[in-house]
Parts: sequence; C-alpha cells; structure tokens
Amino acid sequence: MCAVTTPSSKDAETSKALRGRQPQSANLVIFGAAGDLTKRLVVPALYHLAQSGKLPNQFAIIGIDIDQQTSEQWRQNLTNMMQTLTPVGRIEATAWSWLTDRMHYMPADFTQSETFRHLEEMLKQNKFVNVLFYLAVGEQFFAPIIEHLGQAGLTQQSGGAWRRVIVEKPFGHDLVSARALNTQILKVLSEDQIYRIDHFLGKEPVQNILVLRFANGIFEPLWNRDHVDHVQITAAETVGVEGRGRFYEKTGALRDMVPNHLFQLLAMIGMEPPISFDADAVRAKKTELFQAIHTISPENAVRGQYDGGVVLGRKVVDYRHEPNVALDSTTETYVALKLGIDNWRWAGVPFYLRTGKRLSARTTEIAVQFRQAPYALFRDTPVERLPANILTLRIQPDEGLSVGFSAKRPGSEIEIDGVEMDFAYRDYFEPLAAVGYETLIYDCLIGDATLFQRADTVEAAWRAVQGLLDSWARDIAKDFPNYAAGGAGPDTADRLLARDGRVWLPIRANHPHTAIRP
Ligand code: BG6
Repeated sequence: MCAVTTPSSKDAETSKALRGRQPQSANLVIFGAAGDLTKRLVVPALYHLAQSGKLPNQFAIIGIDIDQQTSEQWRQNLTNMMQTLTPVGRIEATAWSWLTDRMHYMPADFTQSETFRHLEEMLKQNKFVNVLFYLAVGEQFFAPIIEHLGQAGLTQQSGGAWRRVIVEKPFGHDLVSARALNTQILKVLSEDQIYRIDHFLGKEPVQNILVLRFANGIFEPLWNRDHVDHVQITAAETVGVEGRGRFYEKTGALRDMVPNHLFQLLAMIGMEPPISFDADAVRAKKTELFQAIHTISPENAVRGQYDGGVVLGRKVVDYRHEPNVALDSTTETYVALKLGIDNWRWAGVPFYLRTGKRLSARTTEIAVQFRQAPYALFRDTPVERLPANILTLRIQPDEGLSVGFSAKRPGSEIEIDGVEMDFAYRDYFEPLAAVGYETLIYDCLIGDATLFQRADTVEAAWRAVQGLLDSWARDIAKDFPNYAAGGAGPDTADRLLARDGRVWLPIRANHPHTAIRP
C-alpha cells in the first residue's frame, strides 16, 4: 500500500468541507473543573487544540467546582497535572500560556441557584455571547445543573448566539432512567443544543470506519450477509476497576461498555450508508441499526467476574477484594453476547461482542470474517482447509487494519497458507498528540453533532439491552468468580461461539507484524 501524501484539489475541498471550520468566539464553562475528567482529558485536549490553532482567539474558560481555590491555584494544579502527563519539559509554553491566560476558576456549589447568578455575571464580563457548558460531573448532577442553567436564562439562544451543553457518560443506567433524563433536559434545551458524549467516537480509528466503508469502492459490495460470515467486536482491558468499585458495583460490564462504547463500534460497522455526513443523516442510520437488534436472550449472553491472577506479569486480587466491592458481589466484569440484526443486510449474520476487565491484553478491535470460499476446486489436492478471510480493524492500542487471505506456498505442490496485508497508522501518518477528546470538543464548538448521541439513539441502545439487564437482575449469577485475571475470560464465552462452530480470535495487544517492527 502507498500513502497518498498530496491530496488532489478535489480531496482537499472535500476534507475542507468536512473539517476546518474555525469556531466562533466562545466561553467554555466546565462544571467539575477540579475533577479527574477535567484534569486528565478535557484540559489536555484543549491544550492540543490550542497547539494546533483550532480554538478561537476570543475564548475564555470558566471552571466551576466545590473546591476552594483561586484561578491561579487551579491553573497551577493543571500545570502540574500536564507535567505528569507529558514528558518533562515538553509542554509547549506558548500554547499552554495562551490557554491558561484564558482560564478562570469559580469556587461554587452547582446545586445552588446563586452559583448561576454569579456565572451570569462572569459571562457578561466578556463579549463572547456563545457558551459551551461542559458537564464533567457525576450523572446525578446532569439534570439539576441543566435546570439551573435554564432558570437563570443561560440556555437562551438569541441574536445568533448559541448555547450548547456537553453531557458525559453514563447517560442513564437503563431505558427508564435514560428516558427520564432525556425528558428532563429536553424541557430546558432543544435537541440540537445537547451533545451527549461517547468517548469511543473520539478515537481516530473509529471515525475512520465510515471512511473505510464509504470512501472505498472495494469493501461495501462485500459488506452484507451474502459475504460476511460473522463479526467479532472485542474491547479487552487489563485494568481492574481502578478504585471505582463503588461506581462499578452499581454498573457492571454490560451497562458500562455495551449500549454505549461497543454499540458505537457496532453502529459504525453495521449501519446503512447515510445520505450525507450531516449529523442527523448519520444518527438516523445508527438509530435504525439499534432498533433492528433482536431481543438478546440469556442463552446468547455470558457474564463473568474476575478471580485473582497475574496480569502483565503482576499479581492482582480478585474483583471481590477490590476497594468498595462487596465480598459476595455478583456484579459482572465481563460480558459476551451474540447479537442478531433484523434487516436485509445482516439477517443471519451473528455479531459477537465481548468486553472484560483484567484480561490478558488491552485491545479493542473488530474482526469481520468473510464466508469461506467453495472448497470444490481443492477437493483432490493436499489442501486440508482454506484459511478464513478476516478483515481486522484495530482500534487500540495498535491502530490499523489487516486483511487475511490465502496464498499458495511456493513449490510444486498446491499448498495454501494464510497471509496478511497490514496497514498501521503509524507507518503512514504522523502521530497526533491527542487524548481522544480533541475532535469532540472542537465539533461542539463548530456545532457539528455527528459524533454525539441523539435522544432516540441512546434510548434505542438501552432498549436493545434492557431485556438482558432485567433477566440478569432476576437471575443472580451463582458461579462468580469464573475467570482468572490475566486470561481470556470465562470458558462459557468460548462455548457461546463453539456452539455455532466458531472461535474467538486471540486477545493480543499488538498485531504480530507491527509488533516486531523497531
Ligand atoms: C469508560 C468505562 O467509559 O470506558 C471504563 O467506564 C472503561 O470502565 C473505559 O475502562 C474504556 O475506555 P478506553 O478509552 O480506555 O478504552
């Protein structure tokens, strides 16, 4: 493969049309300014945007949180954090001071109305009429903050000014709560003011799936039940619950990863081509896909919880001995599902999804396995089996894709081997300094909601898993812990595929070809 380094003028026009709009002057108000998300992701993403000149010159950041600190202390804390994230001395002083000069901190309780009156005063101090509110707070604060914003008149858009709100995950913990949250926030905001984040859509290789499918002529004709045997979607993690035991106990792997992150991958792979890259055109197709998912029966679902073991050479405890986890916890830390999609493109093609904590390697990938070629031609030859054609899209950490196909081993006999063509992002593109939130924040600033969840999309996703949530709540797991930390998950997950005569692809962090490169 060879990289196209000089785009034609038509390519340049297309990419300009898709990206490259300069945001208008704006205030960014971060609720939860002293929290982890702000420190680890939002501020580093803003810094990267500042570095690449993607933020408007007339830009101000107001951070709000309960912690008593001055603007100077807030900036200093963030500087310390950035220094731990970036190799020492690598923070680019110009971009960082450009950003910190625009940062102000307001110690306040965002459950109190007076906070919003003060905020209004602060917003009046500059002339930037546009405001992006970022709710980097616990889910219990989403609706109350939006209500307060509404009561204070801060969500009113007039005279061409815009007011937008970014809502973080989790958006509800089941269908009923997601619906209730939508109803509450839609009393204050119109749908086009709400940007529901799923950070998986901030990952470049996820965004690339649409380009792979729809900007290339070779894949789409094969992208259907006539040619695809099945699809595997894996999000394997080596981490445990990382001190989030209290949150995780109420959540579990199914809620935490499936109707959001894994479904975003599913949507990118399975959706019909939208008529344009317009946000609603794309989101309508995703929603339709989620609506076409069959009810998931417990027979098509596997849950697991990790026992102690060794992960990446380090001994780790079982889930039940993690902080803030009950000693008899029945929360699942692993889930595997077989999904069916009821439409013309995918009827009869199983989509196997799995995600788990404390597995042998960290990897997120999608494998599209194509149907076997008819064997007839090789009947009278020594060929015993034909390797499957698998298109593997590696989302992280080793971003790229590979295509596996059959080749004749050189020699006088007909011997067939499985070989691979591989594309790794790092071989073609300069790595971007990014934490994955850059595109998402930038898109909010320019008003492009394509990568965000619409109310009906979120509800359709919850609806698809609700039956399983209910049946697992009724029928408590009795065999936990049922997989060793550092392994590939419970044996029952293997049986889920074995039943259909299939096997999971190995969980591996690096593609064998790219791993050996210097
Ligand atoms: C979060 C989940 O939304 O996504 C975490 O709450 C999970 O439990 C994380 O670890 C995975 O995201 P990433 O980007 O690290 O793959």
